[in-house]
Amino acid sequence: MTTSAMHDDHHHEPPAGWQRWVYSTNHKDIGTMYLIFALVMMFLGGGMAMVIRAELFLPGLQLVQPDLFNNLVTNHALIMVFGVVMPAAAGMANWMIPLMIGAPDMALPRLNNLSFWLLPMGGTLLVLSMVVPFFGGGAPVTTGWTLYPPLSTQAGMGMDLLIFTVHILGISSILASINIIVTIVNMRAPGMSWMKLPIFVWAWMFTAILLVLIMPVLAGAVTMLLFDRHMGTSFFDAAGGGDPVLFQHLFWFFGHPEVYVLLLPSIGVLGTVIPTFARKPLFGYKPLVGGMAFLATLGMVVWAHHQYTVGMSLAATKYFMIVTILISVPVGLMIFSFILTMWRGAMTFETPMLFAIAIIVMFSFAGVTGVMLAVVPADLQYHDTYFVVAHFHYALIPGALFGLYAGVFFWLPKWTGHMYDEKLGKIFFWWTTLGFNLTFFPQHFLGLAGMPRRIVDYNIQFTEFNVVSSVGGIIFGLSHILFLYIIIKTVKGGEKAKDQSWEGAMIGTPGLEWTLTSPPPHHSFTVPPVVK
Ligand code: CU
Repeated sequence: MTTSAMHDDHHHEPPAGWQRWVYSTNHKDIGTMYLIFALVMMFLGGGMAMVIRAELFLPGLQLVQPDLFNNLVTNHALIMVFGVVMPAAAGMANWMIPLMIGAPDMALPRLNNLSFWLLPMGGTLLVLSMVVPFFGGGAPVTTGWTLYPPLSTQAGMGMDLLIFTVHILGISSILASINIIVTIVNMRAPGMSWMKLPIFVWAWMFTAILLVLIMPVLAGAVTMLLFDRHMGTSFFDAAGGGDPVLFQHLFWFFGHPEVYVLLLPSIGVLGTVIPTFARKPLFGYKPLVGGMAFLATLGMVVWAHHQYTVGMSLAATKYFMIVTILISVPVGLMIFSFILTMWRGAMTFETPMLFAIAIIVMFSFAGVTGVMLAVVPADLQYHDTYFVVAHFHYALIPGALFGLYAGVFFWLPKWTGHMYDEKLGKIFFWWTTLGFNLTFFPQHFLGLAGMPRRIVDYNIQFTEFNVVSSVGGIIFGLSHILFLYIIIKTVKGGEKAKDQSWEGAMIGTPGLEWTLTSPPPHHSFTVPPVVK
């Protein structure tokens, strides 16, 4: 190697044009790509939900074939979980964790590039899984996101594509999680001790640990399914000595903690937003960190509360009921922690704070219906009804999605260097909250009255609440056009953001992001900052 080549090695400019993105090792650019990917997938998965609500608007409609309807239900869920919430939360992790802890970038920048670029591949397979049945690929996947056999062993080629989707997206999240854990452990600025970590960073630490523990189990389960489908094994086939319930255990060993993977990053956002707009430090920082650890641990040992109806032993059923109800302890702790942060604070109600308060109210409601579903004799009645659909949409839309919206509005000024339009932000908040409640609140009543979930048509006694739910769905869906407009408007221009975008941002356990300009320079910290 010549001297000049060596010299060049040390002074390479960041690649420009498309190469800036495809070859990117920069945590901010990769974070942006994650967020854009999530936004695109949200319109795809949301569009599917709109078709579902259109089909259920009135009894007797047949806008889509029953098998296609069930396939829409399957892919809507998988897209929202793996294509929207996880990538959006990962985008925020990428953007904020290095800035908050004073690191120049993620610990493993090339791995970061790979983690992101696996996503569009997995996303493509996920979409193709719905397309192949139209081109002679066999029966559509009608299982729902749980992919239970024997239905999933009988589905066509779409199921194989979904199995590979899970493999690829699983590799992506495991690599991203390893990167996040290594970054938090090794890349903190001098003085950034564990108990000074911003709460968002803690939340992502637990999220990443959960992901590393659970993704391999799901990958193993779907690989066994692949073997049952093509290699002549019968892990899940009773006729060959297997057991279909085994798949349910493996799936929910992943599936329940996965819910916390979706919720925890948003809890981290709440812990950031609420102290800022209450102008008070977070109440109970250490108990909150402990509460998240307790929540993550408990979340690993409650999985079979999704399977009360399969005929488990009474002892096992009782165990799963009791540990599930115990979850209300750390969740209650978090909610009280947030309420007491607001107590006697000098509160203002900018868009992120409006979302934060609404989340506390609506998520608590999901907590109450969650306890109802945890109780075995009650669950035997609610199981597989719309009550469950209403419950988990109340948990996941406020708990995960709205938390991410709060984060988007909170950090857009930091990311783009421009303030978003506060008036439009507030309109979006009220519009989307109204639409959400109108869509999902009536579904509780539908479930209590016995309407089954994952069904293309229904008895006329369920008409009224379905009409309300579908009208709500249109309102909820359309609000996201305003969301997109606000984001584009903010990226293009507007009032310049100050380095410390929000007045209360330095209160409590602030991240080091506020010591940088808005937007931050391409290379965040050339000299590691010192935390006092
Ligand atoms: Cu669960």
